[in-house]
Amino acid sequence: MENFVYQNPTKILFGRGMEEHVGEETASYSKKVLLHYGGGSIKSSGLYDRITASLKKAGVEWVELAGVKPNPRLSLVYEGIKLVKENNLGLILAVGGGSVIDSAKAIAMGAVIDGDVWDFYLGKGEPKAALPIGTVLTIPAAGSEASTGTVITNEDGWFKRAVNSELIYPRFSILNPELAFSLPKFQVACGVTDIMAHLMERYFTNVTHVAFMDRMLEAAMKTLICQAPIVLEEPHNYDAWAELMWTGTIAHNNLLNTGRVGDWASHDIEHEISGIYDIAHGAGLAIVFPAWMKYVYKHDINRFAQWAIRVWNVDMDVFDPERVARLGIERMEAFFRSMGLATRLADAGITGERIDEMASKATDGNTRRFGNFVPLDKDAVKKILLLAEK
Ligand code: NZQ
Ligand code: ZN
Repeated sequence: MENFVYQNPTKILFGRGMEEHVGEETASYSKKVLLHYGGGSIKSSGLYDRITASLKKAGVEWVELAGVKPNPRLSLVYEGIKLVKENNLGLILAVGGGSVIDSAKAIAMGAVIDGDVWDFYLGKGEPKAALPIGTVLTIPAAGSEASTGTVITNEDGWFKRAVNSELIYPRFSILNPELAFSLPKFQVACGVTDIMAHLMERYFTNVTHVAFMDRMLEAAMKTLICQAPIVLEEPHNYDAWAELMWTGTIAHNNLLNTGRVGDWASHDIEHEISGIYDIAHGAGLAIVFPAWMKYVYKHDINRFAQWAIRVWNVDMDVFDPERVARLGIERMEAFFRSMGLATRLADAGITGERIDEMASKATDGNTRRFGNFVPLDKDAVKKILLLAEK
């Protein structure tokens, strides 16, 4: 196991009706805030009215910025930064999913500097400060409600890039599983796949003697496999949603990577697909992960066999662990398909014509390798995308 320092400062308020506390939680940081949300689901569900009533009750004033799109755009981030500076706002309140929260995090970093926040996403310098962020989560998926990450798409060139900083851990996140009842089935499937991906990125590591965290990750994956079909069948099943929502947060709040080094190549490759084709992040991961696994599993057949046996209930075959590993990958693909997701680019309506461009963008023109389990150069990324093609 590796040395680690672990401190996640995000206060979680979990359960039915918890959004009623948003006013008092917000007021403890600022009485004048930016209320940030997406395309309107929070209005049709009635959540907007409950949030604004709670803010009013706590004496919090707000300026609104709606319209965050999935794969959140840099141009709206700039609008948010301008509003925060002009109105001297003290906290960004994100009500929505990963896209709204990531946009809020970008605004929080950009509002305290004179320069361009996009530079952080290009790796030019690191943020030194950020405004506080609070969230009310409406979809278990990205885990941004308790993560250090923000992923933004720059429309100029369709570059989707990430920043990780402890400064942008939300100060509080409100998780009411009932808020997920209104999710379309497709978004549920994408969310579950993203959570599964966050667990698998951490699971496939070269660090040895990480048995406790292996078991935690396996338990979280098994929870998804068990609960996802229930919420797809019964969208108002509170208990199943509660299990899923909490799994989604724990999967990405950095607890489960303590003592180990995750891979993260599949995420980087997926960001090229959703950056260019504007598909949902989870939908892209259902395509990339099987291909990545087929490309790398021989690097550590024992780890893949362990995962296949413990997570996907494949029988051990001591004479052929490679077959065990491959069966695990097949069962994972079948799980994604059972939720209605495509597991090949072609099935998602994406042709192979921009594979070379995506491999080039992912590796900055073949000048950088990424992925910790198996480092990938441009040629390797291209091979993975070709495995994902049909
Ligand atoms: O915009 P509205 O109308 O709210 O609709 C949203 C959106 O269309 C809808 N939705 C959300 N909650 C709903 C709902 N519809 C009905 N009822 C509800 N309760 O769902 C759609 C998708 O929302 P989005 O926020 O895009 O989903 P998600 O949470 O999956 O976020 C995806 C983004 O997060 C990034 C992804 O790359 C992607 O851009 N990620 C962020 C990470 C992080 N910050 O740590 C890590 C992840 O790996 C990921 O990369
Ligand atoms: Zn993800």
